[in-house]
Amino acid sequence: MTLSPQQIRLLKQTFLDYQQTSEFLERPLIIDKAQGLYYWDSDGKRYFDSIGGIFVASLGHRHPRVVEAVKRQLDLITFAPPLHGVSDITLQFVDKLASVSPQGLTFVKPYSGGSESVESALKFVRQYYKQTGRAQKYKFVSRYYGYHGSSFGAMSASGTGKRKTPFEPQMAGFLKVMPPTCLRDRFDSWEECNRFAAGMFEDVIVQEDPNTVAGIIVEPVGNTGGIITPTNEYYRMLREICDRHDVMLIFDEIITGYGKTGSMFAAQTYGVTPDIICGGKGLSSGVLPLGAMIARQDMGDAFFGPAESEIQFAHGNTFAGNPLACAAGIAVIDEIVERNLCAKAGRLGEYLRGKLEGLKQYGVVREVRGKGILLGVELVKDTDTNEPFPELGRDLKQTALDNGLIMRIDPSWFAVAPALIAEETDMDELVDLIDKSLKQALDKIQR
Ligand SMILES: Cc1ncc(COP(=O)(O)O)c(C=O)c1O
Repeated sequence: MTLSPQQIRLLKQTFLDYQQTSEFLERPLIIDKAQGLYYWDSDGKRYFDSIGGIFVASLGHRHPRVVEAVKRQLDLITFAPPLHGVSDITLQFVDKLASVSPQGLTFVKPYSGGSESVESALKFVRQYYKQTGRAQKYKFVSRYYGYHGSSFGAMSASGTGKRKTPFEPQMAGFLKVMPPTCLRDRFDSWEECNRFAAGMFEDVIVQEDPNTVAGIIVEPVGNTGGIITPTNEYYRMLREICDRHDVMLIFDEIITGYGKTGSMFAAQTYGVTPDIICGGKGLSSGVLPLGAMIARQDMGDAFFGPAESEIQFAHGNTFAGNPLACAAGIAVIDEIVERNLCAKAGRLGEYLRGKLEGLKQYGVVREVRGKGILLGVELVKDTDTNEPFPELGRDLKQTALDNGLIMRIDPSWFAVAPALIAEETDMDELVDLIDKSLKQALDKIQR
């Protein structure tokens, strides 16, 4: 793809996220059109988008039902100020999201994205403890390799070194433990490793003093770090630890929500109910920026009192609950529920997983993991030593793009999470593209 002088100048007047513009200029991707499972670049080349943008286009790009809902809303109201008003469509979105959330989680506050949802959940928990007589509970425990967003609190809860170190010092009161995937080679079984990894949360809580700890925040299936997929027991243990020490369990479902794992939320897939879920990304299928914090009703009730009580949440965002975004969110949830897309994600995921397992024939795949259609493949130099293979991932990124395929590659693993509109034939096309790209990348490296 060749860029015009004006495009080059403009790219130097802005940023892409988490990458060097110079690197992007060597291999630019200007996307002009998207529909369903595909992007088209400005040269007209088509790409299979295996991750819905970046875990966002849950129903594919520009889903007609979602686009239609937003068009209808454009004729009614496009902005209501959260400081002194709310539109009915925003309240309908609250109702809709509560209706598909795990039992008891009916307190919903819409936001404009993932970081806003996480930031608000952290502040909500701190204020909740302050005004319910446990003011000294303020610390959060999360995982290394986790990512919860770019704002200061969400970043402090994140365990992704390179995205944090330029901004140190981090906020005080954020502690980390290792995720199970990083520890697995030290244990005889995956189950035992997960038990140990879950137990570390309790160790930290006890050492810090449970009276000072407010919450645990985790992605049920962790993207950064390579689709980290703990056992059901791991999350059962986290729930029990939180109950034992009066600590809130927060699931960051910004990637895992809205059907991908085979249920509306991964909490339901894992059979564990957290106290708070944070949502974003696929909630509007990428049509408009939308996120949400979904909390236990009784936690929300703790902020309800007479005007003079001043116990309202001391937090707000101008665009939170934007009517257009909420109209999109309602359409997404209706489509998932009416077409039973959670069950479809489970079926399709099994099919896709089986096909991805076939890549093991190349001797560089350690594991295929994930839940539903949110799947990751770990690349290693050899399956005896399990040494990571970042060179292969870096090359795979280029060959995949050359072959018209977009995946999340980082660089010793890659992830796919195709939109819920996909069918088995689309999975065949996707795995053919991955297979071809992997073979070419390996050839290049081994030459
Ligand atoms: C798990 C997770 N949490 C939070 C965020 C932050 O969301 P946003 O980029 O919409 O602010 C992301 C974004 O990638 C994410 O993957």
